Amino acid sequence: MELFDVQRIREDFPILKKGIIYFDNAASSLTPEQVVQKVVEFYHEYRANVERGVHRLSQRASQEYEEAHETIAGFINAPSGENVAMMRNTTEGINFVANALDWRKGDKIVTTVIEHHSNYITWLRVGRRYGVEVEVVRSDSEGRFDLGDFEKVIDDRTRLVAVTKVSNVLGCIVPVEKIAEIAHEHSAYILVDGAQSIPHLKTDVKRMDVDFLAFSGHKMLGPTGSGGLYIRSELLYEVEPLCIGGGTIADVSLESYELARSPMRFEAGTPAIAQVIGLGEAVRYLERVGMGEVERHERRLTERLVEGLAEMEGVEIYGPRDPKDRLGIVSFNVKGMNPHDVALTLDVSAKIAVRSGHHCALPLMKELLGIPRGSVRASTYLYNTVEEVERFLGEMEDLIRAVK
Ligand SMILES: Cc1ncc(COP(=O)(O)O)c(C=O)c1O
Repeated sequence: MELFDVQRIREDFPILKKGIIYFDNAASSLTPEQVVQKVVEFYHEYRANVERGVHRLSQRASQEYEEAHETIAGFINAPSGENVAMMRNTTEGINFVANALDWRKGDKIVTTVIEHHSNYITWLRVGRRYGVEVEVVRSDSEGRFDLGDFEKVIDDRTRLVAVTKVSNVLGCIVPVEKIAEIAHEHSAYILVDGAQSIPHLKTDVKRMDVDFLAFSGHKMLGPTGSGGLYIRSELLYEVEPLCIGGGTIADVSLESYELARSPMRFEAGTPAIAQVIGLGEAVRYLERVGMGEVERHERRLTERLVEGLAEMEGVEIYGPRDPKDRLGIVSFNVKGMNPHDVALTLDVSAKIAVRSGHHCALPLMKELLGIPRGSVRASTYLYNTVEEVERFLGEMEDLIRAVK
């Protein structure tokens, strides 16, 4: 694909032929036919276990599985497939890190008020279990941080800074590169939650200079049950795998064992082979379209969404006012309406799928926005169109007129 052609892209997504407007991409994306066919190819042509057999099916499956690692690593500019351990999703990647480090009483973890529960309660649990202090940095109501606040709390006791690159509620983009610098000045690790950034923005782990980066394949055109964790090279043989057993060893004796090289040492038991191979194909799809094009297209859609909703009486929008500062996510409420009722009405009246509720970010909802019932959230991806945005805005106008 040389030029970004949204109509051509839409042909690859059979669900879109059902007349649905899918604006729930932040929860999970749709999957193109090319990815579905890659998964079918695995089941039809080389359905076997990986890294365990000398027969031809196992050899082919292993080759495809390893290639997927390399493709995914290349997509985020990681040195090699060794740096990416496949996980079921972002949540598993974050929990992996929580279990990988040898916490000591008195250590400190720094996180923020805008995090998804997966990058929040995981650290509260480490705090409870090991006597680790968890410090929460607050942003303003648009999701803007004062870097001075990170400088104040990150100190030599800090072992880990855990922060999202893009908020799943506000859509704001967090300057994780600068936060990484502060963390590293104090020899702390930095983990970035890339669930909402990797699908939409070109990602370069070397430039970001992060230690861990967790992401969900199912939010970036991949199969459900796919995701990964980037681990910095220097840490590959320092951190403890979450699970060990079959597939993770170089040698075992009666008394001892030696773990295999990465990423096998992190992928215990039979992995999600079809999902990983499918995710590799999803990445190839995104690379063909070009992440720069994906971002440009989504910025246009987000801008129009924010502009259109801002003109409506009784609609409150959350997150950055300036569309330049947000990407693909617009959360809002309609005065006098429960967010679930708005979402249900859009679905019933116009087959428009949006998310409603707290979006797994209750600290943000309660402490920052003061809306414990949550919000409605419209989120876009590369196959959405300006026409869909206009249709959504039209439905919103009708809905608001009806409740007046
Ligand atoms: C910012 C963020 N982090 C983490 C997650 C968790 O992702 P998963 O459910 O794939 O583990 C999500 C999911 O919506 C998210 O938006």
